[in-house]
Amino acid sequence: MSFRLGVLASGRGSNFLAILRSIEKGELDAELCILISDCEQAPALEIARQRSIPAKYIRYSKKDRQVFEREAAVQLENYACDFVILAGFMRLVTPWLIQRFSRRILNIHPSLLPAFKGLKAQAQALAYGVKISGCTVHIVNEELDGGPIIAQKAVEVRSDDTLESLSARILVEEHHLYPKAIRHYGEKLLKSQVMA
Ligand code: GAR
Repeated sequence: MSFRLGVLASGRGSNFLAILRSIEKGELDAELCILISDCEQAPALEIARQRSIPAKYIRYSKKDRQVFEREAAVQLENYACDFVILAGFMRLVTPWLIQRFSRRILNIHPSLLPAFKGLKAQAQALAYGVKISGCTVHIVNEELDGGPIIAQKAVEVRSDDTLESLSARILVEEHHLYPKAIRHYGEKLLKSQVMA
């Protein structure tokens, strides 16, 4: 079962690249149809361009989030994307887009949700002093980092961890977890739609 993926990313794009590599290795049967960024300088855009994946910058304004979302939706629908993959997309998604792609927007977050929602999750985990953190893939709903959980991976927090060392170990696990979670969830959802 092959999926058509549209990715939204604001920055570095290492999760985007991990998904791309997983597809190239034949582990995830999917096509990356378009990469959209709210940040003109995002390295993720460059990664997409180098691989000849359509890459589009769309200006984002907090005053009118829907300008971005309407344009993004047009692009995602033009490319007939089955799923919208948030990969380091650092903006709130409004109910408008969530309803438009109901149950088909996924996000990865660098903590074991429901702990440490929002920004700087790894720093929050260190400050709280937890001994285990990790990463979570979830369906995006109206609540920030609050949608149903699809997959999680725990990462031990070491006594000598810095923000950099903990973030780096969590990121390694994100790169394994996200492609697997997309495959499992995608197969489940599309099968249920075919059978409905
Ligand atoms: C990742 O750690 C991802 O979990 C996090 O941003 C980073 C993006 O890295 N996302 C969030 O914090 C969303 N709340 P990447 O651009 O290299 O994939």
